[in-house]
This record gives sequence, C-alpha cells and structure tokens, in this order.
Amino acid sequence: MSDAGGAAIEDYYLEERLFPPPEGFVDQAVVADPAIAEHAQRDVEGFWADQARALDWFDEWHTVLEWDLPFAKWFVGGTLNVSYNCLDRHVAAGLGDRVAIHWEGEPGDTRTITYSELLADVERFSNVLKGLGVRRGDRVAIYMPMIPELPVAMLACTRVGAPHSVVFGGFSPDALRDRIDDAQAKVLVTADGGWRRGSVVALKENADSALADTASIEHVVVARRTGESGGVTPMTEGRDHWWDEVMAGAEASCPPEHMDAEDLLYLLYTSGTTAKPKGIMHSTGGYLTQVAYTHRAVFDLHADRDVYWCAADIGWVTGHSYIVYGPLANGATSVMYEGTPDFPDKDRWWDIIERYGVTILYCAPTAIRTFMKWGNEFPERHDMSSLRVLGSVGEPINPEAWVWYWTHIGGGHCPVVDTWWQTETGAIMISPLPGVTTCKPGSATFPLPGIGAEVVDDAGEKVERGGGYLTLTRPWPSMLRGLYGDPERYRQTYWSRFEGRYFAGDGAKVDDDGYFWLLGRVDDVMNVSGHRISTAEVESSLVNHPSVAEAAVVGAKDDTTGQAIIAFVTLKAGQDETTEHGEDLRGHVARHIGSIARPRTVIFTDELPKTRSGKIMRRLLRDVAEGRDLGDTTTLADPRVVEEIRRLSTTRPTED
Ligand code: PRX
Repeated sequence: MSDAGGAAIEDYYLEERLFPPPEGFVDQAVVADPAIAEHAQRDVEGFWADQARALDWFDEWHTVLEWDLPFAKWFVGGTLNVSYNCLDRHVAAGLGDRVAIHWEGEPGDTRTITYSELLADVERFSNVLKGLGVRRGDRVAIYMPMIPELPVAMLACTRVGAPHSVVFGGFSPDALRDRIDDAQAKVLVTADGGWRRGSVVALKENADSALADTASIEHVVVARRTGESGGVTPMTEGRDHWWDEVMAGAEASCPPEHMDAEDLLYLLYTSGTTAKPKGIMHSTGGYLTQVAYTHRAVFDLHADRDVYWCAADIGWVTGHSYIVYGPLANGATSVMYEGTPDFPDKDRWWDIIERYGVTILYCAPTAIRTFMKWGNEFPERHDMSSLRVLGSVGEPINPEAWVWYWTHIGGGHCPVVDTWWQTETGAIMISPLPGVTTCKPGSATFPLPGIGAEVVDDAGEKVERGGGYLTLTRPWPSMLRGLYGDPERYRQTYWSRFEGRYFAGDGAKVDDDGYFWLLGRVDDVMNVSGHRISTAEVESSLVNHPSVAEAAVVGAKDDTTGQAIIAFVTLKAGQDETTEHGEDLRGHVARHIGSIARPRTVIFTDELPKTRSGKIMRRLLRDVAEGRDLGDTTTLADPRVVEEIRRLSTTRPTED
C-alpha cells in the first residue's frame, strides 16, 4: 500500500506509552463484562439479536440476517418505529420530564426540551407533514441550521415513514438542488436563516434558488430562526409555510407507523470518487439497533446521569447517529450547540461544558488541534471536572493531540475513545471500550464486539501485522443498504475490490499487538476537518469556470484540518494567472459546492502531469504540494512549481 492520503505510518509512533483505563474509572457497567465479547465471538447473530431486543418492536423478526452478498437484510419480518423508540417509550416509562436536549444558540439563547415536549412537537409536525401530502415512502429534504426544529423534523419523518435527506446547511444551492433531484423529494423543511459567527446565512434564499430548477418539491416549511436580522424572507404563496403557523393548526396526536425493519430510514449524500455524490441508504431496524448499542457501549452511557455532548453538525452522519438517533433511543440527555467553537470567544466550548456539567464529549481531531494551538489557558479557567469520557471521530488523531486531549481536557481521569466509522457503516465499528481497552494514542484499537475487520494486501490476503487496506469481513446491522437508485455502483464501489469483503477506502496498519491504526483514504477522497470531499467534485466545479481549461485537486497534509485542498489549475489561453483570478476560482468552488470545499491554495501551472493513458498523477501533485510551504490563501503562478512537476514527472516511472 503506497498511497495513503493521510499521515505516514511513522508519524504514529511518536508516542509509545500505553494508556490503560484511568484509575478510578470503575463506572463501567455497560460493557465491562467479558461475556459480551465472548457471546459476539461465538454467536454473532445471537449477539446482535440481543442488542435489537434493547429496542421496542411491534412485531418481532423471524430471521436475524439474510445475507446475499452484497445485500443484507437484518431482523427480517420485524416491525418498529424509530420515533416511538426515541420518544414514546421513554415517556411511557415515566421519563417524560427528563431533559432530552439542552439547546444553546450561537447568540446565547437557550432552550431546554424534555422528552414529553419533544414527543409533542414531533407528533404535531408529523401531522403537518401528512397535511402537506407526505405519505409513507415519500422523501423529505431538510436544510436547516442546528436548531431543535431539525431533530423534530427528522423524527417526524420517521414517525410517518417518510425517509429524510438532510442536507448540511453549509452546502450551496446547487448541492441542495442535486440532492433534492436525486431523491425526488416532495417536501423541503428549512429555516429563514442560520447564525454563523455573528452573521446570518440566508438558508431560505439558498433554498429558493435551488428550487428554481427542481420540479419535485410541492411544499416548503420554514422555521423562524434569524427573523428580521436576515432581512425579509421571501415566501411563495401556496408553496411556502411558516413552521409556527402550520404547527399551531396541527392535531396534537399522531400514532407511529409500523415500519418494516428494512424500510428506508434516511438518505445521506456523501462524496465518492466521482463528481456525483452518493445517496447512502440506511435502514430502520438494523441502523437503530447498532447506533443505540454503540452509543451505550462506546461512551459507557448511563442515561440517568450523564450529560452527553456531540459537537458535530446534524448535517453529517455523526450528527444523525450520535446527536439524534443513538442518544434519543437510549433516553440520554444531550447538549446541542448551534455555533462554532470560537464565537464569541475561545472560551465558548469550555463554558458550555462547565454550565451544563457535560460528562461525555465527542468531537473531531481538527477541533482538538485548534484548541491546542489556542493554548491551555482557555480550558484551564473552567471547571470541567464533570467530564468522564472523551471521544474522537472523523479523521486520524495524531498522538500529540490525543495526549493533549487526555491530559488537558480529561485531566487524566477520562478514557479517550478514538472511533472509526463512516457514513456507510452508519455506526461506530472500531473503537476502544472505556474501562476495558488499554489505549495507544493515535490508534482506534480494536473492532467492537460483533464487527469483523481485517487489513489486507493488494491481493486481498489478510495482513496479520503491517500495512494495507481496511476491509470488513461480515455484514453488520447498520451497514448501508445500497446507493439510492444505483445498486450496481454500490456493488462496484464497496464489494468488488476484494472478494467477499467490504472495502472501506482507508489505509490501515495492524501493529505487533494487533492494534488498528487508521492512515487515511487511499482513494481520491479528501478529508478536511473530518469532512469528506471528493477531488473529482472540486475539479468538476473548477472546470465549469469559463476561464479554466483543466484542473487537478489533491488533499495535502495540514497540521490543523488533517488535509487541505490544493488545486492545480491550467487556464485557457489568454487568461491571466493573477492572485485575483485565483481568489475568484476559490470563491467559485465555495459558491458551487459550499465553503468546506473552497481550495486553500490555487496553483496555476501550464501543464498537469499525466500517465500515458491520460490519468492525472495525483500522487505526484500531492508530493509537490506537501513538499512546499504553500500559503493559506495565496494563489501562485509559480514557475518553480511547474518546474518541480516537470522534473518529478521525468524522474518518476509512469503510473498507469
Ligand atoms: O477516512 C476515514 C475517516 O473518515 C472517513 C469517513 O468519513 P464520513 O463518511 O464523512 O464519516 C465521518 C464520521 C464517521 C473514513 O473513511 N475517519 C472517520 N473516523 C476516523 C477516520 N479516520 C481515522 N480515525 C477515525 N477515528
């Protein structure tokens, strides 16, 4: 394996200390029993059936697993409802007054929502959806900021059996339109705007431009968030409805649909190796079983006393599984925060932890590295003794950041769980178990009970010790059920590279003690701040610009964001290689896809290195990008870069 996109293997051996569960971490009833792992070893289907029994089913399944590679069906014949499991059953058990969500807006406004209140809102909004013609099986698109109406809309969809497709609020109108079109969504739920570092993101305006050329949306529901601060919100008569007005007119009670375990729960679009995002399909019963189980096991959740905070955005899979479905299925109390860590100041996160008494914190290495850079004084002036377990997700965490997290945030008394998983896996797959696993900083340690993971070489042979490709060896309940509308691409992308195995797209290494070390993507997918972006998508956006002849995009190592997007651009004849032009191209990509896809650097070059078959040699470009000190926003028309590319292309054997 030669082309891991992330850090090199050597980088992971800076820290060789072992970190056993901290002394005093005795609160480990959830997973400490070795019989659980033994059961998963001996009888994996029986193990998953036990986990499924932690949910409430209307009808029990007759078959745990039907496996016709690559198509799996879990808990066949079982029926359940996700919103019922996340809300009704807790209220019925007398937990209606428990706080489900401590919500905090960016400007500092707060809301406390109990399980009873959340259920009441969800029932009403379910009736709103029905009133707008949404029926079981219809798709609903959701494009919202991090406000409580977002989980309400998602749960209402699950209540009426309408799969949702949440589109991250930072995406552009084009990205929203493509996702609405692909899913043929009937209703869009959005908001007037969202807050971001003190200014308003005009979501409704974006939605309107997306809807200008889509036909499937019949109704739009608009929650009020930014109000007059965002100017007048345009509303289209007959199509657009204010959230509060339709809610006020809706019936209070809505019985949950009995859904089949295999019914589509939601679509979530993610970047692959082509310019077209893939609609990942998640099911109802298997998905909820595994997110609920992992949320209990990996975070050692004690729902009666923990205050859990996953600082992701619900627009990504982390938020779906570990802000909405896992915690609510388990009856947990969560913090949900609308804003960014540095607004209005660098104390915001630690202040939230202190005020709510957060016990479990789950975030991305990019955030941890940023906090490290800001300095210890910010966390140090807050009382964070409530913290018990710390989690990391989204990208490889470097040992320095891991040790800093353990020491300066966890105070040395909190286990750190580095959780590997993907949009496709739906739930955590490789992770330490707090109170059980001895950690090595930077390693995600071992596959969880019930999960089969192995590293293989180019020929698909298992690598006992050493580097290779990460594969999954057997189906798991929350696995994707396919790509929406494209079963063949599903088979091709995940199940064709290595026979009988799921190919994750990640490089990995198994060390002498059997620990797994994730090394980053081995395909043309970049990982910027834990967000997946395809090189092809950014390239296709660049070549859409009238001045661009050709573009090649690579992810280069970045100390804070893991990877940064570097674009090599060849302009059409007569175009000027100026800084302004580079800025214009960066802005073009941000408008076209979303600001997360804005290249950090644009480098003009009069030719791109290619193989004889015309394939761009990205590895070489990455070497060029990583070997040089490229500025943050600088756009270079740098003859030395071109020279370097030329030199490397002639001294390297051609890759085909
Ligand atoms: O490369 C791996 C990286 O993130 C990819 C999945 O991205 P996405 O589907 O957006 O989901 C992110 C949140 C689950 C993986 O293929 N990744 C995720 N978690 C880790 C990781 N890499 C290393 N260590 C992790 N803990």
